[in-house]
Amino acid sequence: MRTAPTGGNRQDIDIYVATADGVYVYDAKANLLNPVLSEDIRSLSGRQFPPPAVPANLVPPLDEAPVNLIFVWDYSKKSTTSTEEQMLRLAFAHTGSIVQNVYLYCASEGLATVVRLWFDKPAMEKKMKLRPDQYAVLVQSVGYPRQRS
Ligand SMILES: Cc1cc2nc3c(=O)[nH]c(=O)nc-3n(C[C@H](O)[C@H](O)[C@H](O)COP(=O)(O)O)c2cc1C
Repeated sequence: MRTAPTGGNRQDIDIYVATADGVYVYDAKANLLNPVLSEDIRSLSGRQFPPPAVPANLVPPLDEAPVNLIFVWDYSKKSTTSTEEQMLRLAFAHTGSIVQNVYLYCASEGLATVVRLWFDKPAMEKKMKLRPDQYAVLVQSVGYPRQRS
């Protein structure tokens, strides 16, 4: 069920899904969400960090989004033929491909989405109990479009 390619077929990006019920990790082979944490962490995963330097009314209420996708690079899946710098470029390119597929899906279903660099990465990695060889790259919030008045 993977819809994005990876260099050398590393499959090195895991998708964690934060919802009201907790955090899950997507198992693409089984097309299942496996539970990771039975806690709603969206106030953390949906929060802009550092806080934006613009008035609060201009910041989208991201912690209200039903779903946050957290893209986690598993760099235990390294190869002996790539340098650290090449692995980084691959991981970011892989994440970008997945993000774009989510954008296209959301567009097709009338959902709203935004990908985010600005989240509290150390706090999130700790809360999600990631291993030292896992690295949270980006968060993508998915929700419903605001009603236009
Ligand atoms: C790699 C990347 C990182 C981004 N990081 C943030 C972010 O941390 N916070 C945020 O509010 N928007 C973030 N954005 C969203 C952009 O600001 C947004 O896509 C752009 O302003 C265009 O708006 P639109 O996607 O609604 O058309 C990011 C976009 C990209 C591609």
